[in-house]
Amino acid sequence: MNLEQLKKLAWETMGRRLSHPDRERGFVYYHGQRVARIAVQLRELIFPGEDSLDEVLLVAGWFHDVGKGIEPHWEYGALLAREMLKEHCSPADLEKIVEIIGSHTLRKQGEYPLYVQLVQDADILDHFGTVEVWLNFWHCAVRGKGVEQSLEFYADEYEQEVTSVRGLLNFPASVQIFDEKVNFVRSFVARFAQEARGELILQEKKAKG
Ligand SMILES: [Fe+2]
Ligand SMILES: [Fe+2]
Repeated sequence: MNLEQLKKLAWETMGRRLSHPDRERGFVYYHGQRVARIAVQLRELIFPGEDSLDEVLLVAGWFHDVGKGIEPHWEYGALLAREMLKEHCSPADLEKIVEIIGSHTLRKQGEYPLYVQLVQDADILDHFGTVEVWLNFWHCAVRGKGVEQSLEFYADEYEQEVTSVRGLLNFPASVQIFDEKVNFVRSFVARFAQEARGELILQEKKAKG
């Protein structure tokens, strides 16, 4: 596969697209780029040395949300990708890419090959950590919500979302990365809540010696 050409194609189809009112223009392109990198990194962690499908993971990651905006976007995306990518991939690679795109949201709903499970987990991981804070702030800004409403979300809904999404991850290594991201956000939100009340964060003086 000519990755440079395919990356250009991803940019041309998604780079400036507005796919959701709560997301910035081009979100699906950058999200796809990150998901691809995360999927390959997960593969390196979990299946070191087994790199034969890395290009498939990359291209599937780049295009996994190409159908976003027309639901069910994974089915529409699989159709779109088959058309868009058929000149660029071998039939065997194309089948795997289409399979990943078509089932990236169907987590724990069947027996999926490892390459599908890697992208499913990568997709979840990109929605947590600092990117999740970004998405929350963007959502609040677009909907005219203030700091209080962002904090209400973290107080009332965030933990429930964390619990349900955590249960959808396929690999223990993904759960570990997920937990680290969530812990970071918890500590960020604790400080955000303090500063939103006008509290100063006083650093403890380091003991001399
Ligand atoms: Fe998706
Ligand atoms: Fe996604």
